[in-house]
Amino acid sequence: MLASSMVCTTMIRVGCLVVCAAVASGLHADTGALTQLRGSNHSVLILGCSVDRNAVERFCGKVDRFYRVGCYDEERQLNIGFVFHPGVGINGDLQPPFYNRTQWGSNIGQPISDDKVLRKWSSSMVGELFPDMVVVDSSLWDLSTWASWGMRNVTADRLRQWGMRDLRNELARVSEAYNKSRIVFRTAPAVYKTKWVVGDAGQVYKDVAAISNDGIRMMQRELRKHIKGGKLYGKYEVIDYSQIMDDLIQERGADDPSLWLKDGYHPSAEPSRRYLNEIFRLMDLATVEKKVEVDGFRRRWAAAAGDRDEAGDLP
Ligand SMILES: *[C@@H]1O[C@H](CO)[C@@H](O)[C@H](O)[C@H]1NC(C)=O
Ligand SMILES: *[C@@H]1O[C@H](CO)[C@@H](O)[C@H](O)[C@H]1NC(C)=O
Ligand SMILES: *[C@@H]1O[C@H](CO)[C@@H](O)[C@H](O)[C@H]1NC(C)=O
Ligand SMILES: *[C@@H]1O[C@H](CO)[C@@H](O)[C@H](O)[C@H]1NC(C)=O
Repeated sequence: MLASSMVCTTMIRVGCLVVCAAVASGLHADTGALTQLRGSNHSVLILGCSVDRNAVERFCGKVDRFYRVGCYDEERQLNIGFVFHPGVGINGDLQPPFYNRTQWGSNIGQPISDDKVLRKWSSSMVGELFPDMVVVDSSLWDLSTWASWGMRNVTADRLRQWGMRDLRNELARVSEAYNKSRIVFRTAPAVYKTKWVVGDAGQVYKDVAAISNDGIRMMQRELRKHIKGGKLYGKYEVIDYSQIMDDLIQERGADDPSLWLKDGYHPSAEPSRRYLNEIFRLMDLATVEKKVEVDGFRRRWAAAAGDRDEAGDLP
């Protein structure tokens, strides 16, 4: 299934999902889809979590609400937008309950459960009913939802259901709503610190991990079972953020904490840049060159707008 050990020499903790190096070399680029692009603007919509939002914020140089951010990039003639979604939910049917340990509580909508809502978002965020590319994440929120409601670490059984049914359905909903778009799944990056489930009174449950490398590794293992011909379920291209993070860890020779924000699980500027570059490579757009990062993440400025994300908190 995978070109495994030979190609994946950079595999560290989580392990490569698709043929590692091949992703970077563009082997998965579906050039057929690119020829359908309009002569003018490109568009990519990302349905994901704070990991995606952080990357888009950095690229756009702005923040918006926690559930959306986007911009038009003149250099690439690219409309890029992020919209938050809370994952498959406890039962895997895209319905609540979802992880509710954030300042936004439990009243979180799942846009993927409604075609009309999805189309509204793509129109408003990237100006297209059918973006050229739609990138979907479903990982950290799934893990956190299961752990916080089940009060135990993620199990292999739960992940099996996710791989066999929940995620497949979620992606099917996205590809039905955007049946002219290229649908890409992105995997979860490794974390530096385990994020524990926190109780109503603020007590930390040190035996129940909301997000841990063990959980992420199990998730990757489950995904690997569903890779066919380099694609998830034989259908969806994959951006392997796990691999991007593992490559960086190997380059640095250790779990360099600067690869994450202070909370220890949100990837920092460099991994975010590489992640978006994977999107741009797949779309045949110019990548973002390395630049000196300003220390002082812009999100801090958002406090004034009254819609601040707490460091260390999802989404
Ligand atoms: C490209 O996108 C920008 C920003 O959304 C918009 O102002 C412009 O009209 C678009 N151009 C075309 C040709 O669609
Ligand atoms: C939030 O989730 C916890 C489980 O982690 C649950 O016990 C609690 O009732 C939920 N609260 C709301 C308002 O949904
Ligand atoms: C895409 O979905 C729309 C709306 O459901 C439908 O009318 C159209 O036939 C579909 N197109 C393709 C290529 O499946
Ligand atoms: C849950 O997972 C965390 C992180 O991997 C681990 O430290 C902890 O021991 C696990 N809890 C149990 C009860 O196995």
